[in-house]
Amino acid sequence: MNMNYKKFIGVYDSGVGGISILKKLKEYLPYEDFLYYGDSANAPYGGKRKDDIILLADDSVKKLIAEGVKAVVVACNTATSAAIDFLRDKYTSVPIVGVEPALKPAIMHENHGRILVMATQATLRLEKFHKLEEKYVSEEEMRNVIILPCPGLVDEIEKGDPHSPQVVELLNEFLSPYKEKIRTVVLGCTHYPFLKDEIRAILGNIIFYDSGDGTAKELKRKLEEKSIQKKETTEGKIVFTSSKDTFGEIEMYKRFFEEF
Ligand code: DGL
Repeated sequence: MNMNYKKFIGVYDSGVGGISILKKLKEYLPYEDFLYYGDSANAPYGGKRKDDIILLADDSVKKLIAEGVKAVVVACNTATSAAIDFLRDKYTSVPIVGVEPALKPAIMHENHGRILVMATQATLRLEKFHKLEEKYVSEEEMRNVIILPCPGLVDEIEKGDPHSPQVVELLNEFLSPYKEKIRTVVLGCTHYPFLKDEIRAILGNIIFYDSGDGTAKELKRKLEEKSIQKKETTEGKIVFTSSKDTFGEIEMYKRFFEEF
């Protein structure tokens, strides 16, 4: 243990996606210090088996805890779906906050119309999502909820440009059948909030739900409950790290944080 980042909050994703969550965390908790870890060397997680995702999540969270973080945010829907129970059982010394597709607020919106849930194959296949659906979607509402796995999308975003022609081409392929038929989109993968403009350009004027606000509120609540929130009101630091620890990769993370 080197404890270099004592009192930081660890934020982890399979790659750049968690940066969409980090932006919200920074908005809600501007004084906190954040240590971001993207497992880009092993992304994407979405097509992997549950056991393999658990191993990768375990390894990543172990690294953050060894750095001394006071809390961990698993800013990845796929890793949360596969591994959150395992992680909470194993690492009991710090609070661990996960993310989930924002299906609950979407279905509670009175004018939700047809809801399209975009996420990775693993997120939509694993039990956690089915439980979420069972809990919040009544039988008569079921026909209004369409699930759409988007294989390949994370690979393209990880290349560095969420607005690239390849991303747009894939989105067209996935979304064209739903043109003008959808009113609400749940972005159930933390990589997807970077694609809002492109999604809207295909589907028309839709309402988006993502996991950012819910996760930030939950983290704030957990920090206060444990009285571990930062007391000083000085601007917090953000440090980016990656399993693909090349200069270019870290620069890319910073660009996602600042530009997109
Ligand atoms: N950001 C991850 C998520 O929220 C992407 C998973 C992947 O690497 O495929 O699901």
